[in-house]
Amino acid sequence: MTTPYEGDPDARVQSLLREMTVDEKLSLLAGKSLFRTKGIPRLALAPMKLSDGPRGVGFHSSLRRCTAFPTGIALGASWDPELAREFGEALALEARAVGAQVILGPAVNICRTPLNGRTFEYFTEDPELNSRLAVEVIRGIQSTGVAACVKHYAANNQETNRYRNSSQVSARALREIYLPAFEAAVREADVWSVMAAYNAVNGVAACEHKPLLHDILRQEYGFSGFVVSDWFAVRRTGSGASCLRAGLNLEMPGRGSSYRHSRLKREFAAGAFSEAELDGSLRHLLRIWLRTSPEAGHPAGRRNTPEHQQLARRMAAAGITLLRNKGGLLPLDLAGVTRLAVVGPRADKRICRPLYGGSAGVWSPYEITPLQGLRELVGDKCEIVSDPGTADAAIVFIGLGHRIGGDSEGGDRKSMQLPPEQDALVRKTVAQNANTIVVLVSGSPLEMPWADEVPAIVMAWYPGMEGGRAIADVLFGRVNPGGKLPITFPRTLADSPAHSEPRRFPGDSREVWYDEDIFVGYRHFDRRGIEPLFPFGHGLSYTTFTYGALAIQNSSWKPDDVLRLSLQLTNSGERDGSEVVQLYVGARAPSLPRPERELRAFRKVFLRAGESRTLEFDLTARALAYYCPESLRWRIDEGDYTVSIGASSRDLRLQATVSYG
Ligand code: BGC
Repeated sequence: MTTPYEGDPDARVQSLLREMTVDEKLSLLAGKSLFRTKGIPRLALAPMKLSDGPRGVGFHSSLRRCTAFPTGIALGASWDPELAREFGEALALEARAVGAQVILGPAVNICRTPLNGRTFEYFTEDPELNSRLAVEVIRGIQSTGVAACVKHYAANNQETNRYRNSSQVSARALREIYLPAFEAAVREADVWSVMAAYNAVNGVAACEHKPLLHDILRQEYGFSGFVVSDWFAVRRTGSGASCLRAGLNLEMPGRGSSYRHSRLKREFAAGAFSEAELDGSLRHLLRIWLRTSPEAGHPAGRRNTPEHQQLARRMAAAGITLLRNKGGLLPLDLAGVTRLAVVGPRADKRICRPLYGGSAGVWSPYEITPLQGLRELVGDKCEIVSDPGTADAAIVFIGLGHRIGGDSEGGDRKSMQLPPEQDALVRKTVAQNANTIVVLVSGSPLEMPWADEVPAIVMAWYPGMEGGRAIADVLFGRVNPGGKLPITFPRTLADSPAHSEPRRFPGDSREVWYDEDIFVGYRHFDRRGIEPLFPFGHGLSYTTFTYGALAIQNSSWKPDDVLRLSLQLTNSGERDGSEVVQLYVGARAPSLPRPERELRAFRKVFLRAGESRTLEFDLTARALAYYCPESLRWRIDEGDYTVSIGASSRDLRLQATVSYG
């Protein structure tokens, strides 16, 4: 017998559909257990296995220990699409090693509020950075024959009332802020699956949202893969027929709700949907199912390899963001530090455990905590003590952890504050030792009432199983930090755009209103002239970079032109290091309110001390476009635009005016 895995994929799907009974077809629309679908043994169709998740293969979905990489926000802070691609590939090989053919990631919801329990899983508040990273993670995953599943589509930006609420959001904000990473995932990376979110969008459940799933995703973007529901999200939808017509191809997990076999049979018998509609839906699902199947002859996967662990370490180091370094306290010099105090609740805490943080939890075979990483690095050259008063320098490790109400799925944070005892510990330590370094092992913005009193602050995010080594490398200068904030750190929560009134966040049990519209993150802070604690794109280095003059090929821009800008970047300091050069564009006299500037391109560059490089940016007119709420189309105003280039959204070194039209 020929198996369904041989020959041309479309022809195989066609012949499978010809051979299946209606009953068998209906049985494929819902899963069988938590991470597995049904199969059809009679036709040699093996079940499809899916697995979490965005930071490594989840123990709960594989029952195996796997490499725990840093979480999404740490990758966001690396601003490194090449690294994202390497990560995607490694993640997929680990997935294949446990027999999974679909990996439930990347997670690309916009960090709309610092309080979202899942901020640590997502990359950023900015759609351009989000898109660049999402595209490369997906390309990396799918290069191995595993399907990426980009999630959670769409406007899923909080955990409070997540099964019940509706995100009330304008078409403009959807198009400009919340959808771009999904659009790029489809158009640029040809993503093979998309997860429909728990929430409703403007009153319609995401799992049966025809305008989102069918009109935008399939018709406009050209999506050819399958849509799977978030786990148990289908409970709040209407009929099977309405989900099918909307474009939901698979309900997970278990035996389904709207796609429960008995229910579908009844609806089909009553003529609620046709066999042709059923075939149309299954075609999308089966094409990916067959293509990614272990039987399809893909190379074997591998997990927990030294290469993956090294990659986890490089990723952790690349994401570490140096927020403050007064008087050049960092890097520490092993020759000058003979006693080092290491204190704080996160110094020796393991975080790579099953379901820690929710579905993004990974149980790794080992984990190097910060204390272990420091011990390993200093060896017997320096004594590690717990009393800051007697040490040459003190490091305080603080942060939230993965409990619900902290950085975890299942709940949002109640405030942006650290536990009071952690703030007190920082103050006590700095009073005992002027050379105090605060390291935050945490996944989202935090208030730091002591920020001006502490000479050095390092954001380490959740750095994965090799995180302790990466942190030690950065603190002692073996790695020069190059991370930049992918999210604004406000001084207080009230400064944040989603927090001026409760209807914006968390809303009531039914609706949450995105009244800030497109002014999310730095777009809001710039517009209102609010000084954040640390701005979007900020991150220091142990070296300095000099930005040479900006050259523009042509300062008047016509619709089909590609505008080329170039500049020379020089590492003018004494250490090798990387810089993230950020390019922002703002309209001078927009016909609608628009952000002062928006990130439209960036480049991460590694330069040896003294080295220079010419960087080129090619912009198409899309960099100027906004989504017109009246015509429901992208439009470009004629007129002048400011292009700014710099080291953060508030450290702009070069500016030029270009005119369009
Ligand atoms: C999460 C998804 C996850 C799924 C499967 C849901 O609770 O929202 O991100 O992939 O569970 O574990």
